[in-house]
Amino acid sequence: MRKKLAAGNWKMNGTLGSMLEIDALAEKHPAPTCDVLICPPATLVAAMAASIGDGVIKTGGQDCHANTSGAYTGDISAEMLADAGASYVLVGHSERRQDHNESDADVRSKAKAGMGAGLVVVVCCGETDDQRVAGDTLDVISAQLTASIPDGSTAENLVVAYEPIWAIGTGKVPTLAQIGEVHDAIRALLENRFGDDVGQSVRLLYGGSVKASNADDIFAVPNVDGALVGGASLKADDFSGIITALENS
Ligand code: 13P
Repeated sequence: MRKKLAAGNWKMNGTLGSMLEIDALAEKHPAPTCDVLICPPATLVAAMAASIGDGVIKTGGQDCHANTSGAYTGDISAEMLADAGASYVLVGHSERRQDHNESDADVRSKAKAGMGAGLVVVVCCGETDDQRVAGDTLDVISAQLTASIPDGSTAENLVVAYEPIWAIGTGKVPTLAQIGEVHDAIRALLENRFGDDVGQSVRLLYGGSVKASNADDIFAVPNVDGALVGGASLKADDFSGIITALENS
């Protein structure tokens, strides 16, 4: 059985005062039946991990460098995230791919680094609106994941997040059939590459305008094992509704 995962990506939002939201979330969900993860900005990783421990809410980074250390001004290594108390890291988010020109090869190197540091790596993928309209979605996702996921990945160190770029922060959500089609294809791709045991055990998240009001429907789609949530993860009240929907799915 795959353990469900509710993951929040705070992106470039939050200051020390935002730790109150984490505290409120932990109070609302003292013993969640799914995994709960928040990826705050890098400035808050250590504070969050220190305040919440390795308890019911896991701490994650939003990106990492492919190398362990060195002359890379402004970058953060996976070892540093682990040292600060993180247990997860996102790699290949579309905002990194688009705004920082990250290629699939870059994403794979970062994923390798994250796994090497003992982190669970969430590899993100997703098509643009144009690619969807052109009928290229499954080809795009397959190419991205084939090149972005490192060899030797396991169900313990890999999570895949499908986030259609046109659904991020727009309030637009694919139909449930569209989500199901992509998640089934990702499952098949993982089974083909890593074998049935690993392929069937890796968790697949959907992301893009997930809210408490649409979470029940999305979580009922086969092969959706949770969500990667942006805007609706910033407030404990909003994210709590999504966690509850996942627990009840
Ligand atoms: P929204 O939930 O704000 O659409 O963002 C999704 C996302 O990009 C999470 O990584």
